[in-house]
Amino acid sequence: MSRKILFAASEAAPFIATGGLAEVVGSLPKALHQLGYDVRVVLPLYRDVNQEYRQKFTFLGNITVPVAWRNQYCGIFEYVHEGVTFYFVDNEYYFKRKGCYGHFDDGERFAFFGRSVVEIMPAVDFFPDVLHCHDWQAALAAIYLKTVYSGRERYRDIKTVFTIHNIEYQGKYSMDNLQWLFGIDGYYQGVVEFDGCINLMKGAIECCDKFSTVSPQYAEEIKDPYYAHGLDGFIRNNAHKLCGILNGIDTDYYNPKTDKALFANYDAKNLDNKAVCKQELQRMLNLQVRPNTPIVAMISRLVDHKGLDLVTAVIDEALESDMQFVLLGTGEGYYEHFFAELASRHPQQVAAAITFNAQLSRQIYSGADIFLMPSKSEPCGLSQMIASRYGTVALVRETGGLKDSILPYGNGGNGFTFSNYNAHDMLYVLRQAFDVYRNQEQWRKLVRKAMRTDFSWNASAKGYDKLYTDLLG
Ligand code: GLC
Repeated sequence: MSRKILFAASEAAPFIATGGLAEVVGSLPKALHQLGYDVRVVLPLYRDVNQEYRQKFTFLGNITVPVAWRNQYCGIFEYVHEGVTFYFVDNEYYFKRKGCYGHFDDGERFAFFGRSVVEIMPAVDFFPDVLHCHDWQAALAAIYLKTVYSGRERYRDIKTVFTIHNIEYQGKYSMDNLQWLFGIDGYYQGVVEFDGCINLMKGAIECCDKFSTVSPQYAEEIKDPYYAHGLDGFIRNNAHKLCGILNGIDTDYYNPKTDKALFANYDAKNLDNKAVCKQELQRMLNLQVRPNTPIVAMISRLVDHKGLDLVTAVIDEALESDMQFVLLGTGEGYYEHFFAELASRHPQQVAAAITFNAQLSRQIYSGADIFLMPSKSEPCGLSQMIASRYGTVALVRETGGLKDSILPYGNGGNGFTFSNYNAHDMLYVLRQAFDVYRNQEQWRKLVRKAMRTDFSWNASAKGYDKLYTDLLG
């Protein structure tokens, strides 16, 4: 009989996505399914869940879910996607709102969600061997299982895994919420308490049998105060339960040979159409159409930890070289203004699209030459993998998953890297990349190397397979 895994997460592509978490929760179950697991996923039924799918969901029924002293309606919908069963828990009071997060009562909303994950098991008749929770929004499912439900017959043997996609967001609440909001008995206060407040991520790590991060390098880094947002000591004390497994990407979905969003399709064997993609991109963005000028691209949320201060510090210097710069993303106002203004000063050399647009992102991945990702910290990062797959050579800082996925040119690597968080170190390597670019034969070799790197889920799913097998024997 196949092993049963239940994922709990706050987003999954193609239903609802705000970031990398959704890509992983959308594609890892499929890879595990191919390894023979019975994987199912529980998600909140947000208002913004993609309508195209939403209308095909099946209503299974409803139950009542306790949220501390409240008893809340919980509708259960089901949808099977690529062999994986997705359950959506419905409560309009909590989820019929704009977006996924950022509401004043997120604590209560995700308490409802966490409790629903555990409560729907008998209703859908699926008691997993492993409950696998992702990030703080799903942390309470693991916490409830090991506290409130620990004595209950059918729940007792369920193992739990918790995956940290980003340690920056921990789910912190003041201590007085413990009983009236989260419904956790004072007896368990020590489980969730950290630094004088409730810390749901800490609680899930405490409760789980194993926890993981999305790259081996990040698993090491979060033992260090520079990266851990206060949790380093606690992580070090629990290191015996920790492992790092590098994410993959869905290589069918991200395939330059078939991607309909591109101006023209190509593969590693025949790169001619990549030049077409570049030319059309330059034309569309009103840049000078120059086939031999390297385009450096960034597609990123415009927030500090993406390393944008390195870029703002040296971009004017960089633009003295024969290069073009293309940026796509939204975020902090300072950066939005900076890049919009940069583009207005260099209209033929710089394009800044302060927006998010999936089609444009793929046109950039395919049309650019160098993909810049100088993150200060990066748990895994998927863009460097997608860019590589489209033959756009990644230039990254050696941190987290960037370090694990991109190896430096010269030692047989598939991209360019620098290690210190220093703007001129980055610029030095960027110029090195321009040198290689000018030797078209060498550059094509490097492009092919990047495109042929295996970023599929094959290897990573095996990492989870091992993790589950270690737990279940
Ligand atoms: C988070 C991390 C990112 C990672 C993604 C998926 O968004 O910031 O580095 O790739 O989760 O695990």
